[in-house]
Formats: sequence, structure tokens, C-alpha cells
Amino acid sequence: MTKNIAVLPGDGIGPEVIKQGMKVLDAIAERYGYTFNYTHASVGAAAIDKFGDPLPETTSDICYNSDAILFGAIGDPKYDNDPSAKVRPEQGLLKLRKMMGLYCNTRPVKTFENLLHLSPLKTELVKDVDFVIYRELTGGIYFGEKGTSEDGQTAYDQMIYSAEEIDRIAHLAFKAAMNRRKKLTLVDKANVLESSRLWRSRVRELASQYPEVNVDYMFVDNAAMQLVQNPRAFDVILTGNMFGDILSDEASVLQGSLGMLPSASIGKHVALFEPIHGSYPQVAGKDIANPMATVLSVAMMLDHFEMHKAARSVRRAVSICLEHDIGTLDLGTGIKLSCSQVGDLLSSLILDGMEALNMERLKESNSTII
Ligand code: IPM
Ligand code: MG
Repeated sequence: MTKNIAVLPGDGIGPEVIKQGMKVLDAIAERYGYTFNYTHASVGAAAIDKFGDPLPETTSDICYNSDAILFGAIGDPKYDNDPSAKVRPEQGLLKLRKMMGLYCNTRPVKTFENLLHLSPLKTELVKDVDFVIYRELTGGIYFGEKGTSEDGQTAYDQMIYSAEEIDRIAHLAFKAAMNRRKKLTLVDKANVLESSRLWRSRVRELASQYPEVNVDYMFVDNAAMQLVQNPRAFDVILTGNMFGDILSDEASVLQGSLGMLPSASIGKHVALFEPIHGSYPQVAGKDIANPMATVLSVAMMLDHFEMHKAARSVRRAVSICLEHDIGTLDLGTGIKLSCSQVGDLLSSLILDGMEALNMERLKESNSTII
């Protein structure tokens, strides 16, 4: 089987983590007899610098003509501190989501036994946490009408949702719940917002098509609290664009390192896979970033291609590293490898299994990193 992948490394640590994702894909190709063709394209600040546009037409063409998009990270501090900047790197990502119709963003949050001590929460709270956030990605306040009054003293952003936008992601979330622990929590602010009341009534109606799924409804402020008080109670969280953005960042720290969290965005056209960490410009180019979130995003891509066995072997390789106390600097493991060394090790684990794990040699590499 052949798949064409659009590779959009983007900014900051994007290029270096994406390189490891491709290494892992190459190992999968070799082991399982697949072919992955890559076409690189610019996005974000990197594309503004080169073409004056965070999403040049050549990039969107390449994305349209591929089977999946592997996305690195976007953002550059030189734009963050300049609210008057007319062109911003993030516009590239938002436009790409809209163009590709990527209305469903899934962010799985699963804690790793060996990393529980990194969590800011007590181990007994985060042990066995396993839920997934279904975040609506192409509507709501992100894409509603916005504006500023002529005198610059008033500004607004409209939060708007249609039943159709709610239904299509709700069905995906219900189906996911059916394959998991059969619990779905709709997170909204229905005590205040009209658009949230529409979410509630749609989800309530659709629930009758999934009688086995246990549905509950939670206000977003309460959900923010429950996520740190009792995160194990969640299975599938369904929510709108803005609430999903905020809650998924909150949820990402449960695990201890942002460097471990993958995501998938699917919709009408070509699906996109990206680590949820940002561009982390402070360490860009130093080869110390954690590539595991990208590698786990690659696993989600393989599942999307229905290459489930390959996806499992990627996840297994990541688990083997953690079980043997091997990781990048952020994980505080006994053996600390560089970003590219982790990519190499994961690839050899995929190709050669446990034989790739030469602990003596790894301990030597460790001393060269610190
Ligand atoms: C995310 C990011 C983006 C968002 C930014 C970069 C526009 O925070 O993917 O969560 O707000 O959606
Ligand atoms: Mg975000």
C-alpha cells in the first residue's frame, strides 16, 4: 500500500520532531512493506518569512493532493508580542483547518505508568487516566463574525453553531464512546449561552441513537475543576472549539509532559496529525525536544490508514523506551537521549524489536547528552 503524505514542519522545534516522525514511518514502511512518499511544504512563520503568507497556495495544493498531513508546530515569539501584526503564523493553521474541513479534533489523554511522578497532580489521581477530547475545530467563536468599532473602543467575536456542525462531530464522539467505556460528557455553558443550549438539545436527541452510551452534561467551569479533581471519571469529552482549546491544554499537563501528547484532526478532506505541544522556540535547533508526541501522532495516522498493526508497533516502541527509563530531557528519565537519538531508537525497536535495546551503548550516549 502506498500513501502520499504532506509534511508541514512549521516553526520552532517542528522540523526536528517531524524528522523523527518520518524516520519512524520509514521503519514502518520497511517492516510492513508499505510505501510512504513525502512532499514538504511551508506553513506558519517559516512560510511568512519565505512567501509573506502563513499558508501559501502551493502548500494547500500539496495538502489537498495527499492522503494525510503530518504537521509540526506553528508560532514565533516575534508575532506573539505584536498585537498589531496583520499576518500571523496561527492564521495558516486556522485557514488549513477550515479549507480541509477538519471539524473534528481528537486529543487522547492517557497517562503512562512510568511518568506518573512528572504530573503536578498526586499519583493516585492520575494513575490510569484514559480519556479523549473531541473538540469541534472549524466553528464557534474562532470563526464567527468578528470586528472592532471605528473608534477602537469596542471589539466582538461571535460564537455561532449550527445543528449540522454539532451533529457531525457528536456522531463521531458517540461512535468513539461505543468503542471505549461507553461514556460521553458534553461540556458547555448551557446555563448562560444560547449556542450551548443548542449543543445540549442536539446531543440529547442524538443520544437515542446510541442507547448504550451513558451521556452526561457538564458546565465548562465545573469540567475544568473535575479534570484536576477526578480525571479518571472521563471517557469521551465532547465540546466546542474554544472550550476544547482550553480544556485540552489543561488536560495535557495531567500526564506530566506536553511532549507526549498526539492529536488527529479529521473532517471532509485530508486528515491532519500533529503533536499538541507548540513550537517551543527556546529549544529549537538544539536537538533536545521530545519527538514522542509526533511519533504517537504518526501512530494515529497509521490507525487512520487502517494500518492498525503498524500503529500498535509504534506505540509499543514508545512504551518500551519508557519502561526502560529512556527518554528526552523533559521526561527526566535515567537515560536521556537527544531528539534524533530517540527517533533512531524507536525506528530500530520497530525493525529489530528488543534486540535494538543495547543498554550499555545507550548509557554511553547518555553521558554525551548531559
Ligand atoms: C491549538 C492551538 C491553536 C488553537 C492556535 C495555535 C491557533 O492552541 O491547536 O490548540 O487555538 O486552536
Ligand atoms: Mg490550544
